[in-house]
Amino acid sequence: MREEEIKNLIEEAMKYRLRAYSPYSHYKVGAALLTDTGKIYGGCNIENASYGVTNCAERTAFFKAVSEKEKDFTAIAIVGGPEEVAEHSLSDYAYPCGICRQVMMEFCRQDFQIIVARETKDYKIFTLSELLPMGFGGLS
Ligand code: THU
Repeated sequence: MREEEIKNLIEEAMKYRLRAYSPYSHYKVGAALLTDTGKIYGGCNIENASYGVTNCAERTAFFKAVSEKEKDFTAIAIVGGPEEVAEHSLSDYAYPCGICRQVMMEFCRQDFQIIVARETKDYKIFTLSELLPMGFGGLS
């Protein structure tokens, strides 16, 4: 991916992070999912008083995209941090949880790019096969 595309995807994820509904953890996560045709679907974490019902930002983005008939994905950018931390000053990378990695496994190729970022110029990129080696199921 070009530097400009990565920066744009991270900025979208930052924007969606501010939409998180996280009154229980006070931790906000944003994700921006890029399709092979260049569309971006954003997502945030959405919590629930029954904690286990919570949906992560990454899955929100995937479920929005898949429900719009998208099936081919290039990359996802993920940003996360405590709610008191403002945009563009995140101190840690937010790695996707195991359930979200399994959802990626269902819909993505092994070379799908997972970008974890603290800011637009501070990020790391991993492939799905790096973050979920020998995963179950998925695209053949
Ligand atoms: N969370 C995400 O949105 N994505 C992840 O990959 C890890 C965790 C959310 C779930 C919960 O709302 C909050 O972060 C704290 O766990």
